[in-house]
Amino acid sequence: MFEEHSPKAAAKIPPFPTLDGQAELDKQKAKKLIAQAESAPLTDGGLHTAELLSEALALDPTNHQAQILRERLYQTFVPRWHFPMLADTARNTAYARAIEAKVQPGDIVLDIGCGAGLTAMLAARAGAKHVYTCECQPLIAEAAKQVIADNGLSDRITVISKWSHDIVVGVDIPEPADLVVSEIVDAMLLGEGALATLTHAMKALAKPDARAIPERGTLMAQLVQSDKLLEIWHPEQAEGFDLKSFHRLANIAQVTPNDLTACGMQPLGPTQDLFDFDFTNPNINPAHTVEQLICTTAGTLHAVFVSFEMDLAEGITVDNEIHSGGHWGRSAFMLDRPCAVTPGEQWTITAQHDASRLSVHVHDERQPAIKSSWAADAWRTDASKGEPAHLPAATISKQDPAAQAHRLH
Ligand SMILES: C[S@@+](CC[C@H](N)C(=O)[O-])C[C@H]1O[C@@H](n2cnc3c(N)ncnc32)[C@H](O)[C@@H]1O
Repeated sequence: MFEEHSPKAAAKIPPFPTLDGQAELDKQKAKKLIAQAESAPLTDGGLHTAELLSEALALDPTNHQAQILRERLYQTFVPRWHFPMLADTARNTAYARAIEAKVQPGDIVLDIGCGAGLTAMLAARAGAKHVYTCECQPLIAEAAKQVIADNGLSDRITVISKWSHDIVVGVDIPEPADLVVSEIVDAMLLGEGALATLTHAMKALAKPDARAIPERGTLMAQLVQSDKLLEIWHPEQAEGFDLKSFHRLANIAQVTPNDLTACGMQPLGPTQDLFDFDFTNPNINPAHTVEQLICTTAGTLHAVFVSFEMDLAEGITVDNEIHSGGHWGRSAFMLDRPCAVTPGEQWTITAQHDASRLSVHVHDERQPAIKSSWAADAWRTDASKGEPAHLPAATISKQDPAAQAHRLH
């Protein structure tokens, strides 16, 4: 008699699950993994939770709960602006050209802020000996490793899943970099910590004569007309209720590229430089300046529009000026009351930054009309750059820290 026919053997060997039975077992395992994911700490940036959810979905691909949790995790840890940013061809092309122009054979490149890996891959393609790219968000770093492998560049690019400030030469990178590449600027240039990051990196992670992309950045302001901006940001009423008292909570309009089109913003004068930053030799000193914004077109002044321009390499720039496309948001400091303006008028603003946030105070009084002989070129000269200093509280009345953290929102 065959042993498996004995009742004892039957008790030892569990029956093979049927296909349905296996699916049921997988679903049960998936449920356990989801429960673990729900209680896992997120102190690792969601990495372990994502792994648990991926395992669960491998077992039970249609599990709705796992799908929702994974999407929520991604939304929490991966800013949504990454995706339109990667579709911003003007930005991508400018970086590709600048990297091509500045990478030299044998270069060790440090790419700060790997994201999907685009700038790192551009540096590898441009001929760098090796690219070290760091990324502070572990979920993003993991995805970038896969992107880089998909493009056959894993042997030329090392992804370091770290904040750049934590990188140690001799441990994470073998030697200081010849070229530091970064794209860590938000709508008002400073909000993603570019100054602090590059101040550290150029001193601690790069050779003394290292090159940088971007090389420079400039923050600029100009007078604009846009009644639509005020309609969107300061609606006078809703359903017959007066809402004006709520408006003081938002002096800065954060304008998405779509809103920018909808707002039909009209410049009333040229841009005026506020602050200039040398990214090859940056510092984190706060600074302030008092500038005159010139009106060249009659209209209604609604806001002071702030934008930036970055020099990536000789003759290669990116910006988020009023008429440029691209994924970056825009910021406008709204006046308390719209004001009719005439050509030649000057408006005084005080701007200050603390290396990560910009504030702009539009002075209440305008200057009398100036002579019409002012040339357009002269309007872009630095009128009265001040020394770094603390300002009286009144000059920071238009500050909105939340405005800094967004490219889009
Ligand atoms: C705007 S993305 C740019 C990605 C990529 N370099 C590109 O241009 O397509 C910047 C990335 O840098 C990361 N990041 C910002 N500052 C960082 C720092 N100091 N160290 C490491 N990663 C940083 C952010 O998490 C984000 O993923």
